[in-house]
Amino acid sequence: MGGTIAGAASSASNHTSYKAGQIGLEQLVEAVPALRESAQTYDLLVEEVARIDSKDMDFAILARLAQRVAQLLAQDDVQAVVITHGTDTLEETAFFLQALLGPAKPVVLTCAMRPATALVPDGPQNMLDALAVACHHAAQGVVAVCAGVIHGAQDVQKVHPYRLDAFSSGDAGPIGFVEEGRLRLVRNWPAAKGLAGVASLEAVQAASAWPYVEIVLSHAGADGRLIDALVRSGVQGLVVAGTGNGTVHEARLKALLQAQAQGIPVFLSTRCPLGQLLKRDNESLTTVCDLSPVQARIALMLHLLSR
Ligand code: SIN
Repeated sequence: MGGTIAGAASSASNHTSYKAGQIGLEQLVEAVPALRESAQTYDLLVEEVARIDSKDMDFAILARLAQRVAQLLAQDDVQAVVITHGTDTLEETAFFLQALLGPAKPVVLTCAMRPATALVPDGPQNMLDALAVACHHAAQGVVAVCAGVIHGAQDVQKVHPYRLDAFSSGDAGPIGFVEEGRLRLVRNWPAAKGLAGVASLEAVQAASAWPYVEIVLSHAGADGRLIDALVRSGVQGLVVAGTGNGTVHEARLKALLQAQAQGIPVFLSTRCPLGQLLKRDNESLTTVCDLSPVQARIALMLHLLSR
């Protein structure tokens, strides 16, 4: 899919001012002897669905990726799919694929924090680790592998803008670790089933655009103007990242409740990066306890597409 793992900078010491998605996947695989050898052992099929900076991810690309992954997984001779992806929206793609496909075979997203041209790039080891996960006999569902850690699609979040170990599974903790090509598992793989109440792959393919869903924050001094502007511009769903256990500034809440009364669904998440929302009595918005705001947005879009 592109990303920093396929990124190129003007010098080997430059880890920030590079262009993501410059180098073809064939070339990345060719550059790693152990991967080249694995390619023969495992009959590795290498193909590019997109070559983008993942900040620019859009619905058409996600839908194309889901379709291709589903096609491949349906083949008897395909054991797993590994996806090289930018780190910035990896958690959204991982959640989207898990929610939509809930695959019984493993789908392993991997990435890099340093471009392929770096003096010591992290992409090659991450790709090898991802392949080890993909080949594990018990692996299933969508996971992400970065810096030797295996994260479940439901839990993974990018938590650091620079360090190589940029992801966390928060309170849930990782599924396991990849050490010298072997897996040390500490908890279960993601379920081989998608999210309840969401669109089918066919509905996603048939849609020409995402439903228009935006994320808004609650914060000190928040008011209703942003919500009113979004409603006027035709927003079809809203996710509010509330403070703490899902509280929302009273002025913003008033506007959100008005939007909801007009038929615009509003999902309530939290801006806290760890833990889960605990449902409160008489909550007037739909609380999505275990989803981050970006995941809640995808869940709401898939829900709207299912109607
Ligand atoms: C991207 O997300 O495509 C660029 C940043 C990265 O991969 O680390």
